[in-house]
Amino acid sequence: MIHARIRLDPDHLIGGIDRRLFGSFIEHLGRAVYTGIYEPGHPTAGKQGFRQDVLDLVRELGVTHVRYPGGNFVSGYRWEDGIGPRVARPQRLDLAWHGTETNEVGLDEFVDWSARAGTDVMYAVNLGTRGVLDALDVLEYANVPTGTALSDARRENGHAEPHDIRMWCLGNEMDGPWQLGYRSADDYGKIAAQTAKAMRQLDPRVQLVVCGSSGSAMPTFGEWERVVLEHTFDDVDFISCHAYYEPMGGDVASFLASAVDLDAFIDAVVATADSVAARRHSDKRIQISLDEWNVWYMTHYNETEKISDIATWPVAPRLLENSYSVTDAVVVGSMLITMLNHADRVKSASLAQLVNVIAPIMTEPGGPAWRQTTFFPFALTAANAQGDAISATISSDRVTTDRYGEVDAITTAATLDPSTGALSIFLVNRSLGEDAEVTVDLSAIALKFPGLSLRSALTLSAENIDARNTLEDPDRVRPRVNDSATLESGILTVVLPAVSWTILTV
Ligand code: AHR
Repeated sequence: MIHARIRLDPDHLIGGIDRRLFGSFIEHLGRAVYTGIYEPGHPTAGKQGFRQDVLDLVRELGVTHVRYPGGNFVSGYRWEDGIGPRVARPQRLDLAWHGTETNEVGLDEFVDWSARAGTDVMYAVNLGTRGVLDALDVLEYANVPTGTALSDARRENGHAEPHDIRMWCLGNEMDGPWQLGYRSADDYGKIAAQTAKAMRQLDPRVQLVVCGSSGSAMPTFGEWERVVLEHTFDDVDFISCHAYYEPMGGDVASFLASAVDLDAFIDAVVATADSVAARRHSDKRIQISLDEWNVWYMTHYNETEKISDIATWPVAPRLLENSYSVTDAVVVGSMLITMLNHADRVKSASLAQLVNVIAPIMTEPGGPAWRQTTFFPFALTAANAQGDAISATISSDRVTTDRYGEVDAITTAATLDPSTGALSIFLVNRSLGEDAEVTVDLSAIALKFPGLSLRSALTLSAENIDARNTLEDPDRVRPRVNDSATLESGILTVVLPAVSWTILTV
């Protein structure tokens, strides 16, 4: 049995939780859009062709904003292909994913879908094959109320009110050789700064995200952030981080400790951004937008899914349709814990992605939609991480991993809503073989909020950690009440099964 002791300190705030932490991402990739969110003719589809069953699940997931339209896709995208009468919209080849894009869904439709989903739009401009003028055009189309060529075009296209999009990404993964039009940090920094200044000249309300590294393992990591921020520091609000994990070579013990890497990644980017600030004698703080994060079986994509024959690039192929296990959900839960513990600087994040493509929600064309295992830690964290992230000091037994050495077996984060006293504690047991007995000392919380009581204890785990939800068996895995949890005299005690994610609400 593993043991861990946790002490919560309500006076030691990490930071307020920005609701934008619970964003997600829809790219024109595979079946994310077509037969994902949009499927005219589906039994649940409304007049505009959006699947209501998917909309219901997106609402249940608690997503706050959705990044769109890519991803790698955006670096070859001509946004104007996706507006105006559908019959006049061109078909194009998508060089990023080797598909054929019909452009049936574009900016206007996506904004309508977002309104139905109750989410904001985070829009990425194409800085791969396009530049400043294109970014200004799409911003004019989206945000100028009326009286200009492009705002009037939007009105003619049925949207009298501006879309009023506030969060904008300055391209996507511009450090990656796979990216159409990828550049050196210096070249990207220059075009990103020019684009940012121009966009702000048009609409000073926009919040801008400059591309950081596509992953902490990129050879240019660190130096990329420094150079890009030297160019863009005054003109942007966020720098992006992208982080995907999978069990490399089948090493599940290290995979379960992926959040250790995410932790270091975020710390390094914060330090780099603050060092740029220091050199400028500036007290401005660049925030982190973790605008792509998830478990992704990328090796499988690279080795088996890539479509090569140019004559056969299909519409909406089944790509990146990862089926997620309990283990994957536990890793997703631990990444959310890391984000909460960096709530002072991670002010926006997007689970990549939302539907069908490395997604918590899956659909069958003409058939049902269902929740993957990863749906649950996201939904429960989004619903219950309210108010502030507070310090959770932990003393935990350790587990050994090949990749990260010895790490705490238990990882945790806690949030406290100062207005209601609602406390949520998130826990992961990374041990592959041992249950854990955890005690949480709430005495400091009880001083502020007397009469504490345990509201709920839910755990996601399974006898078979490879269990997953599928089309045939969509409800096999779900969180269950953890009967071991008790709260007595300010001490909460709970047993966490091996490889599990837990939420306690008090
Ligand atoms: O989310 C899938 C892909 O991962 C995105 O298109 C890209 O930005 C990243 O490499």
